[in-house]
Amino acid sequence: MEYIFEILRYDPPQDKSPYFQEFLYSTEESKSVLEALMNIRNEQDCTLSFRYSCREAICGSCGMVINGKFDLACRTMVESLESDRIIIEPMPNLKIQKDLVVDMEPFWEALHKIEPFLHPQKEILERGHRIEEEEMEKILQYINCILCGCCYSVCPVVSRDERYLGPAALAKLYRLVKDPRDKRPFSNWSRVNTEGGAWGCDTIFKCNEVCPKDVRPADGIEALRRKLVVEKIKRILRLNK
Ligand code: FES
Repeated sequence: MEYIFEILRYDPPQDKSPYFQEFLYSTEESKSVLEALMNIRNEQDCTLSFRYSCREAICGSCGMVINGKFDLACRTMVESLESDRIIIEPMPNLKIQKDLVVDMEPFWEALHKIEPFLHPQKEILERGHRIEEEEMEKILQYINCILCGCCYSVCPVVSRDERYLGPAALAKLYRLVKDPRDKRPFSNWSRVNTEGGAWGCDTIFKCNEVCPKDVRPADGIEALRRKLVVEKIKRILRLNK
């Protein structure tokens, strides 16, 4: 089977603007888009740049836009695209470093801001804590996030508001505050009670649509909003006692 790969190329120090380059790729076997890219790089153009590591949809490195759809190149089979012309673009909302490699720094910065680790109490640290199955069920889908950045790249709020933390970070925060071991004080995470945080989301669910691991970040953001409101009411009631 023969395919034309149209790949967006851009090397900022050399190129004035991004452009598409065509490569002919033939294979008799079932191959992933990542394998096709590796073949093109190894046999046709060793300067073609893209990220990958695990090749098994675990590390989240190979997110890109494939025929207009956000996905992981390692889990997308070429024949599943039902076209012999395959257009590959880097993830938008992030600066292109080279070809399909984007600068993930703003994504990591946003994640860092929500303190993406448990804040357990001392006795939990000393004695441990057994999570019940029903507690686990509430956070399970968020644990599946592999931080590929697809939700961040598709988000229209990220594209227009640089303060916005983005779906992955906010869903991660919800996963942490719903974890029975996490005892962070409200003051720690009220920093997301802002337009740059939970209230910035347009709730158009693009992030839910593109997640390759079926996480529903927008659901987490909505739940986080509910939690913020409940905490606020509790605080007012305490003050009025
Ligand atoms: Fe790790 Fe694709 S290479 S997710």
